[in-house]
Amino acid sequence: MAVRIGFIGTGGIAGAHRKALAQIPKAQMVAFCDADEARAKAAAEEHGGTPYTDYRAMLSEARLDAVYICLPPCFHGEFEDAVIEAGLPFFIEKPIDVDLARATATAAKIAAKGLITGVGYHWRHYDSVDWLQTVIGDQPIGLALGYWLGGTPGVWWWRKWATSGGQMVEQCTHITDLARWLLGEVTAVYAQYNLYRMHEKLEGLEVADAGTATLTFASGAVCTISTSCALEGVGQVGLDVHFGGKVAEIRGGNITIKGGGVEAFTNKALLNPTVREDTFFVDAVDGSGDPTLIRSPYPEALKTLAVTLAMNESARSGQVITL
Ligand SMILES: NC(=O)c1ccc[n+]([C@@H]2O[C@H](COP(=O)([O-])OP(=O)(O)OC[C@H]3O[C@@H](n4cnc5c(N)ncnc54)[C@H](O)[C@@H]3O)[C@@H](O)[C@H]2O)c1
Repeated sequence: MAVRIGFIGTGGIAGAHRKALAQIPKAQMVAFCDADEARAKAAAEEHGGTPYTDYRAMLSEARLDAVYICLPPCFHGEFEDAVIEAGLPFFIEKPIDVDLARATATAAKIAAKGLITGVGYHWRHYDSVDWLQTVIGDQPIGLALGYWLGGTPGVWWWRKWATSGGQMVEQCTHITDLARWLLGEVTAVYAQYNLYRMHEKLEGLEVADAGTATLTFASGAVCTISTSCALEGVGQVGLDVHFGGKVAEIRGGNITIKGGGVEAFTNKALLNPTVREDTFFVDAVDGSGDPTLIRSPYPEALKTLAVTLAMNESARSGQVITL
């Protein structure tokens, strides 16, 4: 069955989903809403749909089966409310919000309507991560080290706490989410941040350009996650997971296992994780697929948001935050 999809937000990440959905024959991209009319028109011209600048008009006219919400982190709440009110399943980009109370309220409304949702935590969807889980099996993970070390994102909304939530909430959320996927629930968080370099280069920059958080998991595992947005032309993004005398170095879809007395081995993801997450979502919407294949429905992403916002709270208060 064809699944008629509308977009709210047609910027950078919407482009990645448009490319992925174009590879899924039943996914019909029929409507594109953006506050920037030229962007909405360009997307509509490419895929043959209708451009909108008013999402309410799109929701009432476009006969949609599902919506992709691809907005900056601060623009959440009213869009989700309207989509939920229309009874439509939706896929939303991470971070789902910068306000935990608002996101918690959204989760309750989704539950009340029993809607299918998906969130763009694509690291959970690398087939190499599936492989790693089978390798680890029941072995306890004692330690994990996560990093999102790189440059400063160019989008305007990234510079302010109120519009992006800062780097732990924004890009580095992928690493916290992957740590939760592999290690389980987080019970306590302690973080320290610094603003040491980029404020000299970017006027009005508020968010920290360096930070480290320590996480404790219910399993007893401990994990550090560090960010830097102050590097130039160099970076490191990933998670190192220690188990059974070995370390698995996860770098996007490439996972190298070292140690344990055996030769290092690298498993490279064969599947595009964005196509995979979009396929699971679209198949769940038309009823041909199992909704439990969606690895990050909204309530799951809410838990990751709670952990990353707890990092901010800890960095501000100097306290360990218990979850
Ligand atoms: N999963 C990933 O790896 C990944 C990668 C990049 C971005 N993202 C996330 O996707 C989200 C969007 O990021 P982006 O890079 O696409 O940002 P962007 O700034 O490129 O695009 C956002 C779009 O939303 C539009 N917009 C803003 N307010 C609007 C409104 N009221 N109505 C309609 N349109 C509106 C803007 O005009 C813009 O086109 C962020 O939360 C970001 O973290 C996820």
